[in-house]
Amino acid sequence: MAQIFRPSFDTYARLALIGVVLLLLFMVLLGPVAAWSGYQSQVGWTVDQPIPFSHEHHVGGLGIDCRFCHASVETSANAGFPSTHVCMTCHSQIWTGAPMLAPVRQSLAQGRPLSWNRVAKVPDFVFFNHAIHVNRGVACVTCHGRVDTMPLLARAHPFEMRFCLDCHRDAGPRLGPPGAVTRMTPLAWDEATHRRFALAAAKRFHLDPQRLDKCDICHR
Ligand code: HEC
Ligand code: HEC
Ligand code: HEC
Ligand code: HEC
Ligand code: HEC
Repeated sequence: MAQIFRPSFDTYARLALIGVVLLLLFMVLLGPVAAWSGYQSQVGWTVDQPIPFSHEHHVGGLGIDCRFCHASVETSANAGFPSTHVCMTCHSQIWTGAPMLAPVRQSLAQGRPLSWNRVAKVPDFVFFNHAIHVNRGVACVTCHGRVDTMPLLARAHPFEMRFCLDCHRDAGPRLGPPGAVTRMTPLAWDEATHRRFALAAAKRFHLDPQRLDKCDICHR
């Protein structure tokens, strides 16, 4: 009788089976580790930058307001990054020869902007707009965490859909005075004041949880 399978089939089948078992074992062992480590959400991760710029020093220590460097945060979709000239308002006077700042001097000399690697980003299919949030009084710290304590910037929250929706379904209590959006520490409000403010804000901005929950708000 003709053989349907070549004798080597058995070997291949066995190898494939072993492969599948090993893969499953690998997934079972490594799955939870990946979930714990923040690998997927990137929370707590820092990235290499051309200069080890410290928000802890410049914001926490020197008290420079976010808007001095992220100037378009109140007026446009993007917060933006500071131009080299912004760094040079100070660093043409202090730390002028520091090797650490060589890329800043080079950027100025060559007229080429520094290229920072992104830490906080949503995928391209998600629409986001800073001005809308900041003008309603959603503070930077709500989404970016205590950047004033970060020597190197790390992502504070996973920008997962749930993170956005949790607030969109009940935004009032998470709003503060728009003038205080760059404040890193909570306002010293008692609960009653907070509740009153939340109700007033929801009314003033006509917050509509049903509308803010719609897919095409964020996926346009
Ligand atoms: C002196 C200038 C300066 C000030 C002040 C400043 N930043 Fe930054 N910020 C930078 C620079 C430069 C980068 C890019 C390097 C990095 O990621 O650390 C950056 C990056 C960031 C990022 C990461 C964006 C991304 O996707 O990579 C966030 C978020 C951020 N800043 C928030 C803030 C907030 C909030 C404040 C105020 C509390 C603030 N920054 C104040 C200069 C500044
Ligand atoms: C409601 C949440 C939220 C608030 C409030 C918020 N951000 Fe962001 N921020 C984001 C998201 C989401 C991104 C990623 C945007 C993208 O990938 O297009 C981002 C990106 C950034 C970036 C990178 C550059 C850019 O424009 O994409 C900087 C810098 C930044 N934010 C600074 C700030 C500062 C400063 C404030 C407060 C004045 C602030 N953000 C308030 C969610 C927020
Ligand atoms: C308002 C003034 C001011 C601006 C604007 C400013 N710096 Fe600084 N920077 C300082 C001072 C002051 C120090 C010294 C801090 C210290 O030693 O405590 C410093 C220190 C540094 C250091 C040394 C490491 C550290 O953090 O101590 C680096 C690197 C640096 N700045 C990069 C930058 C870059 C890049 C920009 C532009 C995005 C910038 N700075 C904008 C004032 C400024
Ligand atoms: C802490 C609260 C909060 C968080 C977190 C938040 N939002 Fe919002 N979002 C608001 C508020 C408040 C408004 C303004 C609603 C209004 O004026 O009707 C808004 C409005 C928007 C709008 C504009 C809707 C319109 O009117 O067209 C978009 C788009 C949006 N958010 C996307 C996002 C995305 C994407 C995320 C997550 C990365 C996010 N938001 C996280 C509170 C929040
Ligand atoms: C307030 C903003 C917001 C609204 C409203 C929203 N999404 Fe999303 N969505 C996001 C963000 C942010 C991500 C990116 C998540 C990530 O990168 O992990 C996302 C990701 C997704 C993805 C990719 C798969 C995933 O989970 O990463 C799908 C599919 C999706 N959304 C479908 C929807 C549908 C359907 C609706 C309406 C029922 C909806 N979204 C409403 C913000 C929103």
